[in-house]
Amino acid sequence: MTRQRPDDGAARARVIVFANQKGGVAKSTTAEAFAASLTARGYAVLMVDMDAQPGNLSMHVGADKSLPGTLELLELRRPTREKVLRCIQPTRSFGDVICATEELDTVDKFMNSRMARELMLSRALEPILDSYDFVIVDTPPALQVRTLNGIAAADDVVVPCMADVSSVVGMKAVLECAAEVGEFVHEADPRVAGVVVTRYDARNSLEPEMLDQIAEIAAEYDAPLLGQGVRNTVNARKAQYNGVALGEFAPQSTAALDYEEAVSAYLAGIGIGDDSLDS
Ligand SMILES: Nc1ncnc2c1ncn2[C@@H]1O[C@H](COP(=O)(O)OP(=O)(O)OP(=O)(O)O)[C@@H](O)[C@H]1O
Ligand SMILES: [Mg+2]
Repeated sequence: MTRQRPDDGAARARVIVFANQKGGVAKSTTAEAFAASLTARGYAVLMVDMDAQPGNLSMHVGADKSLPGTLELLELRRPTREKVLRCIQPTRSFGDVICATEELDTVDKFMNSRMARELMLSRALEPILDSYDFVIVDTPPALQVRTLNGIAAADDVVVPCMADVSSVVGMKAVLECAAEVGEFVHEADPRVAGVVVTRYDARNSLEPEMLDQIAEIAAEYDAPLLGQGVRNTVNARKAQYNGVALGEFAPQSTAALDYEEAVSAYLAGIGIGDDSLDS
């Protein structure tokens, strides 16, 4: 398989952050699906879990939480390639991961006491960016210091959003935040790559209407919808329960196909077409 590197062969990963201020909107599920799909397409992928909650991305991808992870990464005062590599572990089908445990919450106090606290993740990742094509950052459901770090480190912001009012409020908060970070944090330039409508149920008559509204709001921020919505299916939960990528667990399931569509739309948005994936 031939593959086109992002940025036309530039030896630096593109960092994609997944964020929505609202909880439970499939941020982690979407981050995992992107990581697995990009890995299956032949890209070198690193996931960074910025969320301390039990049932986070690290758990779904089968990370060994006894190994060093995001806590140790963010505590590095002078990150070097060697030190950062110690925080990285492989997974079976999602690429590599820097994992998070429930203790990660304790790092916030340390971060809040540092100068340039929004840039700690960005600086910590710098030494290893040349080893990956994509870095996928999953964030907690709040615009707190770790989420801001994810946004400040990002080239691309992807907003997973359910077709309901409170998720849309959370989406708008992230879109505003990304604009603000771009404006006020000199070293950061996050671009909103798009919105993925998640856990979509077209039989619920409100949801198609909400989907149109989400597309309209996203367009105000120059953000497209990535795909037509990821349908609700129990396979998404089952795959996570089994620690397997959805695309591997149930490749023909509606959500697996919908996520492939969203990833292809994301790649097209950065100038990489599907035909570059064929040999
Ligand atoms: N397409 C889908 N169909 C059915 N269930 C789904 C789908 N996508 C995600 N889920 C389920 O929805 C729940 C929430 O998903 P997830 O943990 O990814 O959300 P989150 O936004 O990361 O949550 P949090 O804010 O707590 O971090 C999980 O149980 C997940 O399995
Ligand atoms: Mg999550």
